[in-house]
Amino acid sequence: MGFNYQNIRKDFPILDQQVNLRPWTYLDNAATSQRPIQVIEKIREFSVLTNANIHRGTHTHAIRTTEAYENAREIVKDFLHAKEREEVIFTHGTTESINLVAWSFCEKFLSEGDEIIVTEMEHHANIVPWQMACERHHATLKVIPFSDNGELKSELLTALISDRTRIIAVTHVSNTLGTVNPVKEIIRVAHSHNVPVLIDGAQSVPHISIDVQDLDCDFFVFSGHKIYGPTGIGVLYGKRAWLEAMPPFLGGGEMIERVTFEKTTYNELPYKFEAGTPHYVGAIGLGTAIQYILNLGLDHIASYEHHLLTEASEKMKALGNLQIFGETPSKTGVISFQLDQIHPFDLGTLLDQLGIAVRTGRLCADPVMDHYHVTAMTRASFAFYNTSEEIDRFIEALKRIRSMF
Ligand code: ALA
Repeated sequence: MGFNYQNIRKDFPILDQQVNLRPWTYLDNAATSQRPIQVIEKIREFSVLTNANIHRGTHTHAIRTTEAYENAREIVKDFLHAKEREEVIFTHGTTESINLVAWSFCEKFLSEGDEIIVTEMEHHANIVPWQMACERHHATLKVIPFSDNGELKSELLTALISDRTRIIAVTHVSNTLGTVNPVKEIIRVAHSHNVPVLIDGAQSVPHISIDVQDLDCDFFVFSGHKIYGPTGIGVLYGKRAWLEAMPPFLGGGEMIERVTFEKTTYNELPYKFEAGTPHYVGAIGLGTAIQYILNLGLDHIASYEHHLLTEASEKMKALGNLQIFGETPSKTGVISFQLDQIHPFDLGTLLDQLGIAVRTGRLCADPVMDHYHVTAMTRASFAFYNTSEEIDRFIEALKRIRSMF
């Protein structure tokens, strides 16, 4: 399938509806994306026609679901350009993936007096688990700041790294500013000091082609629902050596080799980190979602979304008295902004009255709010199924709301 707009829109029937008697304009894609019919059908197939627990049965349906689940792992492995399927762990999402590393890696490698580095533009999911680890192990969290245009001051990294730095956790793309961070360079600098790096890819995988071997990242995490797949499924990629060295995170079925009351031995990778019945239907759906965007072509998606971003940014700025937070040249389709003095909650509610869905609030990024001394923001975020017509509808709605104040 080529990048044909009419075909694409047909694949997302949810978009073809009205909200408050207006055509629904969904501009909240950084919060969650919509699922194409191919993913919905795959989930339906594995709910209606084929279902049995994986890795636990010799009967036909158990074999089918197990094969489909492991096939999804292969799809993720190829998508991330990982070396081995054992390096791909299915989790419930980005948050669980980061918590897994923050608990398990730190259990083994973090001691009193050690340091962890994050950035000022992280989502709470890439701050709080590290803070909790620092509290448990009496370690210190250090922060790479960003400048007012939303650019990470990555040149400060070298000065922040010390011989006590144990890990660096950085978002690939900021969920608030849209900034694409120079993660390859950050990883190079970190590795020159023998420090591993975790990349939060939740906001990058829907837009940017990922090659974990080329990046040379130690961990890479993302969620299914932001990449046109189901909720409740996510991925942790980790280099085999780290995953082998780390203790298991959750205990239970599947992650064991042998259990006795005296001692339990653990399963091999990747199952060591997949305790309990996994969300196998979610993983299968995620595999289909990845195939869908690969068919469209990530390069096509990126260039079309860039066009939407440029068009929307220019038209918004032309309104005047509108502040955009984050204006780096390297940016994905995320525009957080403030219009006049209109409170984001009022703006979001009024936009909804006009059929337009955006996100409002602190965007799970309190430090970014603090940086700009604001209590909330409004955020419009785009996907490849959005159109210029929808941007015009959004701009007209902003004009209309402004005239009401
Ligand atoms: N992380 C999601 C967002 O940025 C929820 O909106």
